[in-house]
Amino acid sequence: MVKKGELLYEGKAKRLYITDDETVLWVEYLNQATASNGLRKDMIQGKGELNNKITSLIFEALAKCGIRQHFVKKISETEQLIQKVEIIPLEVVLRNIAAGSFSKRLGVKEGKKLSFPIVEFYFKEDSLDDPFINDEHVLVLKIANREEIALLKAEICKVNEVLTELFHKAKIKLIDFKLEFGRLSDGSIILADEISPDTCRLWDLETNEHLDKDVYRREIGDLVSVYKEVLTRLLENEI
Ligand code: TMP
Repeated sequence: MVKKGELLYEGKAKRLYITDDETVLWVEYLNQATASNGLRKDMIQGKGELNNKITSLIFEALAKCGIRQHFVKKISETEQLIQKVEIIPLEVVLRNIAAGSFSKRLGVKEGKKLSFPIVEFYFKEDSLDDPFINDEHVLVLKIANREEIALLKAEICKVNEVLTELFHKAKIKLIDFKLEFGRLSDGSIILADEISPDTCRLWDLETNEHLDKDVYRREIGDLVSVYKEVLTRLLENEI
């Protein structure tokens, strides 16, 4: 077991620490929720544990399906070990069904199934409010080259197939989700960050009830009880 070292980075929902193994980082999931790029912030008891458990279980399922990713192991209720990567400053979003910023920007009713899954890039830069960008912006800003852009799109489509099936078994519709990727020291790109109800839109298969962070963003429900519901359903289906 590696030893926890100094704090490397504190984000909105996680703290990252170095370890005595330079290829491994120690992640602590926090009981904190934010919305509107950090303008709204609340302590929510139990959130860190739920997201750590959900993310760990999803990354294990993705690993079984051959997706290259950073997860090493869950080491406590709120902590996990991951491979160290240099995060690519992109939020890679895939949408199966219209919702959120897509619906708002384009006037498409929330809930409308898209004729095929679409991939979008957002530049991860808090000071700019993570703007929507296209492939050419990604190239010009030297965030990724053409081959890497193609790889990011192919990987998120593979993840979509695995997650759609996994959530479907739990009677949940995967509306959209956000991924982040990172580069290992040899330059190869792997999936990183977290996959949880903070980063996915999840609707009940039958009622369309929101089972994700929108309950907090839109103040329409209790975050902990819906995240618990997602975890329980995933565990019941032994994904
Ligand atoms: P959006 O509809 O607000 O653009 O969000 C699309 C998906 O990306 C949704 O599942 C939530 C997720 N997301 C994040 O994980 N982090 C973010 O900062 C944003 C804006 C969205």
